[in-house]
Amino acid sequence: MDGNRRWAKNKSLPRSEGHRRGAEVIEPLMDAAMDLGIKVVSLYAFSTENWMRPRTEIASLWKLLDYFFKAKIDVITSKGVRIKHSGLDAMLPASTYETIARAVDATRHNRRLILNFCVNYGGQQEIVHAVNSWLETRKGGEKISTGKLERNLFTAELPPVDLMIRTGGECRISNFLIWQIAYAELLFMDVLWPDFSPRHFYKSIYDYQQRERRFGGI
Ligand code: IPE
Ligand code: MG
Repeated sequence: MDGNRRWAKNKSLPRSEGHRRGAEVIEPLMDAAMDLGIKVVSLYAFSTENWMRPRTEIASLWKLLDYFFKAKIDVITSKGVRIKHSGLDAMLPASTYETIARAVDATRHNRRLILNFCVNYGGQQEIVHAVNSWLETRKGGEKISTGKLERNLFTAELPPVDLMIRTGGECRISNFLIWQIAYAELLFMDVLWPDFSPRHFYKSIYDYQQRERRFGGI
């Protein structure tokens, strides 16, 4: 979800307003995903590298996250959406941790769509965390495998990523789901996240449907 600050800057608004408008994109996107029968949407909300941002901006992001879940939890629950968190719990402010945990718990039986919030998430950190978790159960001279590693990722229960969309015009991955996108289709869109609408989403799915996926085969 990239481009919030540029969106705000273009409109001479504070950064926090860009993030606030960015958060408003999530509910229509969630509806469009369910309409299309998509089962999992992962949102990169806060990376392990975002800690390098000014403290005031970070604080406004946590406040927004709290607000988002409090304001939307009823509609999320009633629509059958399950909230999942991928990321390191440690370092999250206690209130943010609790808000996320509550949303995860309240929606745990929902099956229509998984909304996977990647918060304090980094792909490299996730892989290291997975290896360390596996090491705790390791027996004798046992070696790790792709399967064993996958079962220890935050996303263990999720399918591999089919399509990764990055808004904001930058053509890079920025440590997002680096293991899970091994064979994903990548789409870089020149639209700032607060402007991302269901129309853009439908267009990106159409684009995805034109791709020929071979997974290294013929
Ligand atoms: C993405 O928008 C939102 C978060 C990382 C939370 P940015 O804040 O990166 O906005 P730009 O890319 O600087 O415009
Ligand atoms: Mg950015």
